[in-house]
Order: sequence, then structure tokens, then C-alpha cells
Amino acid sequence: MSGEALENLSHEDRIFVPSPEFASKANGKSDLYTQAQTDRNSFWDEQAKNLDWDTPWSQVLDWSGAPVSKWFVGAKLNVSVNCIDRHVAAGNGQRVAIHFEGERGDTQTITYKDLLDRVSQTANALTELGIKTGDRVAIYMPMIPEAVISMLACTRIGAPHSVVFGGFSAESLRSRIEDASASVVITADGGFRKGSPFGLKSAVDEAVASIPSVKKVLVVKRTEQEVNWNSERDVWWDDIVSKQSTSHTPEFFDSEHPLFILYTSGTTGKPKGILHTTGGYLTQVAYTYRVIFDIKPETDVYWCTADVGWITGHSYVAYGPLANGATQVIYEGTPDTPHKGRWWEIVAKYGVTILYTAPTAIRTFMKWGDEFPQAHDLSSLRLLGSVGEPINPEAWMWYREIIGSNNCPIVDTWWQTETGAIMISPLPGVTATKPGSAMGPIPGINAEILDDAGTAVGHGSGGYLVLTKPWPAMLRGIWGDMERYKETYWSRFDSRYFAGDGAKWDEDGAIWLLGRVDDVMNISGHRISTTEVESALVSHPTVAEAAVVGAADETTGQGIVAFVILRAGSVDGPGVAKELRAHVAKEIGAIARPRQILIVAELPKTRSGKIMRRLLRDVAENRTLGDVTTLADPTIMNLIGEGLKSSTSDDD
Ligand code: WTA
Repeated sequence: MSGEALENLSHEDRIFVPSPEFASKANGKSDLYTQAQTDRNSFWDEQAKNLDWDTPWSQVLDWSGAPVSKWFVGAKLNVSVNCIDRHVAAGNGQRVAIHFEGERGDTQTITYKDLLDRVSQTANALTELGIKTGDRVAIYMPMIPEAVISMLACTRIGAPHSVVFGGFSAESLRSRIEDASASVVITADGGFRKGSPFGLKSAVDEAVASIPSVKKVLVVKRTEQEVNWNSERDVWWDDIVSKQSTSHTPEFFDSEHPLFILYTSGTTGKPKGILHTTGGYLTQVAYTYRVIFDIKPETDVYWCTADVGWITGHSYVAYGPLANGATQVIYEGTPDTPHKGRWWEIVAKYGVTILYTAPTAIRTFMKWGDEFPQAHDLSSLRLLGSVGEPINPEAWMWYREIIGSNNCPIVDTWWQTETGAIMISPLPGVTATKPGSAMGPIPGINAEILDDAGTAVGHGSGGYLVLTKPWPAMLRGIWGDMERYKETYWSRFDSRYFAGDGAKWDEDGAIWLLGRVDDVMNISGHRISTTEVESALVSHPTVAEAAVVGAADETTGQGIVAFVILRAGSVDGPGVAKELRAHVAKEIGAIARPRQILIVAELPKTRSGKIMRRLLRDVAENRTLGDVTTLADPTIMNLIGEGLKSSTSDDD
């Protein structure tokens, strides 16, 4: 399409065709689609063969008892061997695996051989601490190399890890440790964020005080801050790991051996422990990383800005890049410390070629101004990725023009904690892309969009996104709650996986994601359930009742808006909203702190007592109210509207 013709189109109507140079060298080829369509199982069989297996499989997929799938039945492998040992054995031990950049500017260069030594030592240390195959290990860490090393060490000895994002509160950590009955917690004294140290060990102390299953706490010294010490239970990383042998003979585990549990928000107050297993997960993560990020391990430098506490950090910081022998950057801190050009300085410093980040970050940079990226040499970049929430066409175009200098393909990748790996995305070098669309299911994945009755809709129509066939990296269940697994994902539409997202096909058959259709909010690409925040609010002594909605937010995608009824005797005043916001941050973590709290006298309810969040969303987004006729008392909305005018809100 010529430049001028393009100028006249709105962002949504533009189409970017892959450049012939990129296409000729791309790892992904269009015949992958044909192969996968012709024989899906043999397609996945081929992908699995890119990994090293100790024992081959007798069957690619066992899908007899839907929704329980087994992939690569009977096969055995070790994840850390696939991520490290095989690269060293192939002569690439001196290749850099991780360029670590601390927020304060301290750096580490870790080669694959270094990684092998450090992971082996950590595996030996975990064994000395009593961890055996199948035992769960909780990891609560800042973004430092030891986080990834701990994950790999767990996989080496077959101990499923449960990484808990370091921004979660002591209470969130406690409930996750308890649910998984973890016996060891790996943490650090703290980490650096926005120029200052924050504490982690103190939260672990609080969390494990009431959990007898936790026998040991392994602590990395990162900030040198003072910590409380329980000498029966706590062990410094340096005291136990450094003295271990750098040799460790790995065992091989069944393809369906549990690899990790990762908690994510559902529609109830209790987070779900999403269970992933070994062979299928690694197969799909390695395959998607190879074809979607087009990785050339000899020359690329990849940087994914996600924290290991989220699924993106699991699949595309830890396992995907390392399984492919890639070189990557890990950055500990925030984008504006010590200045707003920090990310672009890092891209220039390491010659980053592939950047994977979230729309919320892109929109923040747009707001800060073009001068920050433009002050740095970003010419090394050749591919850009987006994940976590729908990317609006304006942000997509800015990413392309200002960060990618108009010559980097953009892959908008749709997936979930539950799917384990990317499901819907363009293939760079193959797919012509539209700004704001994730385009279509990747080869090997089958998706449809259904209407309320469960009938597939065609081009030009929207509905609920479903996945119609099992995929290798799919979740195998919710830890300890198979019923909830079936109920949440497989009951809405018979034998199809219901993702919880709305989507539409455009006239050309491209998929546009439209956000969640359930009570899950998406704040800066992080999932938080309305019920979780409501429960946190009502746990405060002054709160009688609370209703929470996700309201559109220019930067964070959605922002949390809470409507709160105070208990009789509690008075609204300037400090109330502030105190409640701090209370939610303490209960769940800072990411769940409401953007705005409105103290109201009543909440809109139906005659059966159900809160009508739709109307509250209208209020929060300053829209004309929708239909109020099903309200038990339609006049309530006037009261809420008046309350809004005089509200105390987000000024702290
Ligand atoms: C949303 C993150 C639109 C979606 C990998 C999904 C997206 C939820 C995209 C999963 C995208 C993720 N376009 N929406 N490219 N990627 N989402 O489990 O609502 O943290 O259901 O996994 O994020 O969030 P999760």
C-alpha cells in the first residue's frame, strides 16, 4: 500500500504487509497453517521433536476424558536440561543467556554455562533443604536472576513452583502458600523499585507465621536491609547455594508431571491455582517463541518486560527464550527510574532486537512524549510484541512509528495464564497485520466466536471467544479443585474452552479482542477480580458493603472504581477514601488499589438483590445510564449521581 493511500485511512483500516526481506528469513512460514490443518497431531508431534526427550511418547494426545488432556503420553524429559544443558552440550556454553540490569545500574552477564552451574547448585541446595520430586516451592522474588534460577532449579528436581508476584501483599502470599501447601519459600530481603529498596522477607515472615507446612525460607541478599531472622527456618542463599557442587544429575519426568502452579484471579474472591504440566507446556512455549518472536539465537537480543510473577514472565522470560538458547535482557526496575528514557537506554545499550511489552506501558510512553525514545538509538529493534490487554490502534501505530521506526512487524499476542502460551497472533513475515487486531489463531490452535446460544458466528460478527480443540500448553486443572476447573472453563459451551473474553471477526476474518465478559478486571494488563477487591473492602471495619467495577482508563486499560456504603456510625470525611485505598493495597497488593472510591448511601440492586454493576460502570465512566427498570428502586441512581458530585476520590 502506498504511503499516501495509507495516510487517508483510519488506523483500524490500515494493513501492513510483511516486508520481503523479513519474510525470506522468517522462522514462521505460511505452510505451517496448512500442515496444522491437514494433521493437527502430527503438526504438534513435529514441534515436540524440537525438544530433547529422554523417553519418546506412545501417543501425541489423549483426549478421551474431556476436559482432561494428556500430551506426549508416556514420554519423559527435564525442562532445565532443555533450557540449559543441551545448549551447553551443543557448544554454546559461552553464549549470554541473561544480561541483567539492576535498577541502580549494577549488571551481571550470565552465560549458559554460568546458568548451568548456578541452577545445578540451587538444585543441590533445594535437595539439601529437603525438597523432593512433587513438593511445592513458593517463589516470592524481585526481578533478579535468582528468580529465574530458582524456577529452573525446581524444574530440575521435579518440584512444581508457585511464583507469587513480589507486589502482592503478605495476605495474598499466605493464601497462595497455603493453597499449594508449599514447604519451602524462596525470597529475597527485598528489591529495588523507583530508586528505593522495598521489603519482601518481612511479608514472608508475616505470611508463614501461621503455616506449619513451610519448613524453610531461602533468602537472597539483594538490598542489605535489616530483616528478622528465625534461625530454625531461615537460610541465606549465599550460605547454602554457594557451597554446593556445580554438578547435578537431572532426573527425567513424565510429560504430565506438574511443572508449576500460578495463581490468577477468577470471578470469585479466591484466586485459582492454574496447573501446568511439563511436556506439552514446553513444546508450545518453545514453538511459539521460535515462530512468533522469530528468534535467531546467534544474533538476537530479546527483552520481555514482564515480571516472572505473571504468566508472561514464566513463558516468555524463563522458558521460551531459554528453551531456544536465546540471549535476553532482564531489568529489575521501573521505566522511569532514574529517568523516563531508561527503557530506551537499555535497548540501545544491549542492542535489543526484539521487545515484548504491554499496551499500558506503550500508552504511558506516549503520554510522556516522543523525546524520550527519540533520544536513544533504537535501530537495533527488528520485531515488537504486545500482550496483556487489547492494544488500541493509536498505541499500535505509535509503537510502530516511534519505537519501531516503521520497519518492525508488531505481533499482538492474545493468550492467558490458563492457555500457558500464545494462541492468537500474527506470524511475523507471514501475516499482514491491522493495528489493534491480534489477527488469527496461530498454526495448531483452533478458535471460534460464539453467540449466546453457542452457535459460531461468521465474519462481521462478535460474541464469546472459545477454543475448540485441546492444545499442548493448556491448563490441566485448578490446583485442588477439578470441579471449579470444569465449571469455569468447560460448562458454558459444551466441550469448548470458554476464555472469558469477548471478540469479533471483522469482514476480512481478522479477530479483534474486546475485553473480558466476566467480573474480571484488567488493570495494566493484570487480572484482578471485582469480588477480590470487594472482599478486601468489606474486611475494613468501617465498610458495610462494597461494589467494584473496572472503568475505562486511558493509560491502564481499566481502573478500579469502588462504590462503598459505610457502616452506621462511620462518617465520610476526607481521609476515608484514602484509608480504604491503602487498606486494599495492604490486603491484596498495590496493583489492586482502587483508582477511585465513592462513598454512597445505597447500591443499585435488582429485586433479587444482585448488584447491577453495569449501571455502576455507566456512573464510573460518566455515561448516560442504561436501562434502570429492573432495579428494585430506580431512584437510587439519582442518589449515587449526587454522591459522585461530592465524592472524595483519587487525590492521594
Ligand atoms: C487479556 C496474560 C487483548 C484477555 C498473557 C485475557 C488480551 C487476559 C491480550 C489474560 C491481547 C491478554 N489482546 N486482550 N493481546 N492478551 N489479554 O492470564 O482478557 O494475565 O483473558 O495472561 O488478558 O490475562 P493473563
